[in-house]
Amino acid sequence: MAFRDTKSKIILKTPAQIEGIRESSLLAAKTLKAVEPYVKPGASTEFLNKICAEFMLEHGAIPATLGYHGYPKESCISVNDVICHGIPGKYELRDGDIVNIDITTIYKSFFGDTSKMFLVGEVAPHAKKLVEVTKECLAIGIRECYSGNALNNIGYQINKYATSNGYSTVYEFCGHGVGIKFHEEPEVCHIAEKNTGAILAPGMIFTIEPMINAGKARCKVDRKDGWTARTIDGRLSAQFEHTICITKDKPYVLTDIDGEFELPTEIL
Ligand code: MF3
Ligand code: CO
Ligand code: CO
Repeated sequence: MAFRDTKSKIILKTPAQIEGIRESSLLAAKTLKAVEPYVKPGASTEFLNKICAEFMLEHGAIPATLGYHGYPKESCISVNDVICHGIPGKYELRDGDIVNIDITTIYKSFFGDTSKMFLVGEVAPHAKKLVEVTKECLAIGIRECYSGNALNNIGYQINKYATSNGYSTVYEFCGHGVGIKFHEEPEVCHIAEKNTGAILAPGMIFTIEPMINAGKARCKVDRKDGWTARTIDGRLSAQFEHTICITKDKPYVLTDIDGEFELPTEIL
């Protein structure tokens, strides 16, 4: 049984649930590590999806995206101008591509969700810069994840940093509560007004997953497959995603297996 805070439907997770979601989150992050050596020129996105799917299944996890609202694959793989929800297929990676792989695991009924960018071969400096700034946007959002802060300060700071670098922030797709279900409350916008939204409290778990565009913010969803979201101007888009737990102390980045973020000393 999970508790809910009084003003919203945001589930405050119990210690046992946090531990379960952490395990699932680590498995999702390990899947990204497992696929990394295969992200090379000539690899099809279908093949990369197969590597991810096999890794998840071999480790006792169910790929959450397969069959989710009819989504047909075990991962999302979004190349260059694809913002998110790219469906793995015949496309073969080329030298200079930037690619996001997004993995959501269900492990012992808990959900973990993470994505990162991969650089294929020799990538142009402008593309590399977009990827770096997007990674920084995620870290800047995570810095706002402390008890007592307003939820929308995450998006406020992310968008401020993205625009100060000449980029735009996608507003049609957001981060989300996660753990018991794939998508829970709250919605975590990556462009938002300062000091608005829910007050963060220990036990809240959600993703931050900024999608940052080199050109215009607007996106269009492929009319044929109903999923692939592309930039309207055909310019590049990048995304990084972590699953984060609010604690009494610093943010607990559940999908961080590289030790990029310090662990909290106290959780609830
Ligand atoms: N993993 C994505 C997210 O970060 C959602 C993918 S839903 C799918 O929220 F159906 F497209 F797989
Ligand atoms: Co997500
Ligand atoms: Co995701």
